[in-house]
Amino acid sequence: MEYFSEKTNFFKHHKPSDLLLKYGSPLYVYNESILRERAKQIRQLVDMPNFEVSYSIKANSNLYILKILKEEGLHADAMSDGEIFVLEKSGYDKDHIFFVCNNVSAEEMKYAVDRGIMVSIDSLSQLRLYGENFPNSKVSVRLNPGIGAGHHQKVVTGGKTTKFGINLDKITEIIEISKKYNLKIAGINQHIGSLFMSSTEYLRGVNELLQTALIFKDIEFIDFGGGFGIPYKKQEGQQPLELVQFGKDLKLILSKWQQDNSRNIIFRCEPGRFVVAESAILLGRVYAKKSNYNKIFIGTDLGFSVLIRPAMYGSHHDIEVYRQNKLVKEKPFESVNITGNICESGDILVEERELPVIMEEDIIGVMDAGAYGYSMSSNYNNRMRPAEVLIKCDGSLKLIRKRDTYEDLLRGF
Ligand code: LLP
Repeated sequence: MEYFSEKTNFFKHHKPSDLLLKYGSPLYVYNESILRERAKQIRQLVDMPNFEVSYSIKANSNLYILKILKEEGLHADAMSDGEIFVLEKSGYDKDHIFFVCNNVSAEEMKYAVDRGIMVSIDSLSQLRLYGENFPNSKVSVRLNPGIGAGHHQKVVTGGKTTKFGINLDKITEIIEISKKYNLKIAGINQHIGSLFMSSTEYLRGVNELLQTALIFKDIEFIDFGGGFGIPYKKQEGQQPLELVQFGKDLKLILSKWQQDNSRNIIFRCEPGRFVVAESAILLGRVYAKKSNYNKIFIGTDLGFSVLIRPAMYGSHHDIEVYRQNKLVKEKPFESVNITGNICESGDILVEERELPVIMEEDIIGVMDAGAYGYSMSSNYNNRMRPAEVLIKCDGSLKLIRKRDTYEDLLRGF
């Protein structure tokens, strides 16, 4: 059995219990070395000077994380005016931000346009709105060539059943609208969905989009989207995505297209999860253990206000148990349900899983919590969102976000 924290020396010389005493429980703990390593891996995905990587900040938009990823040479994509705002605060250049929005007001578009940020439009209605408000300008269009992938129906964003993108049979209308408002289609983009462990569908999507790109003579860039998966089931031996081979396959396709068509444009991908997921472990405390009609419930402070992925998508996160500062590995194991402190019976972090026998006062570590963890957390039940702490490369600690306070719950009143 592989224990991620042990294998990566995740906590360095720190102990989970000391971290919780210092910063409160629950707590998101990040490891800077892992974060930088993932950023480097993805930055080197395709060895071509015109290949760029934008980090999709919806996965994690902590200001310090953004600064580190900027240092690693990543650009960024934003989904909202708020994400643009934090990117600017983290020092990202306007030319390195791509606004991939969906169903927004003209005011929100203006927020990006005023700052010189490229906007991606994903419906004919929004293209008209953009044209009326910002004629004689550049824009990108998000297409949906009918290919989708992802770990759950809720996160498949390409294909025939999603709200995203413009179907390829609407291209004539895209061109008509852009002529009417004198818009230059400067880029095309897509995103097939989130979390694939095989590159097949992504590469199929790349080929489709490259085919379509031939229709748009003026484009300066093509963005193929993100979705690169990470192995959430390491304890069962799940292997990572074959990134090196994937990069080679992608390079082959892109360079051939470039040569065949004598076009020199920027190619881009925009992963979120891959960059940040493995850089964090979420820690929480066990406060109760009970057996209700033969089901064992472990009661913790890790409710879905802190990490919603299991409740929302049935997602799996590997679990580690720490007792008196030691990782508990030995048998006996028992089948348990780990729950949080939220007033809903759907507040389940782990459902019927064999884990080392857990006791009151143990500490639970939730692996791979860096993507869509804090960024999807909430104040539901008026719970305080946790602090985030970074274990830096030199082993020192930096508090990168404070835990909410009672006063924060009164903000706006
Ligand atoms: N680009 C666009 C346009 C996107 O919509 C997304 C994710 C990404 C890039 C980055 O995808 P990634 O590389 O992170 O898979 N909350 C869900 C994931 C939702 C993803 C939404 N869009 C989860 O926790 O699994």
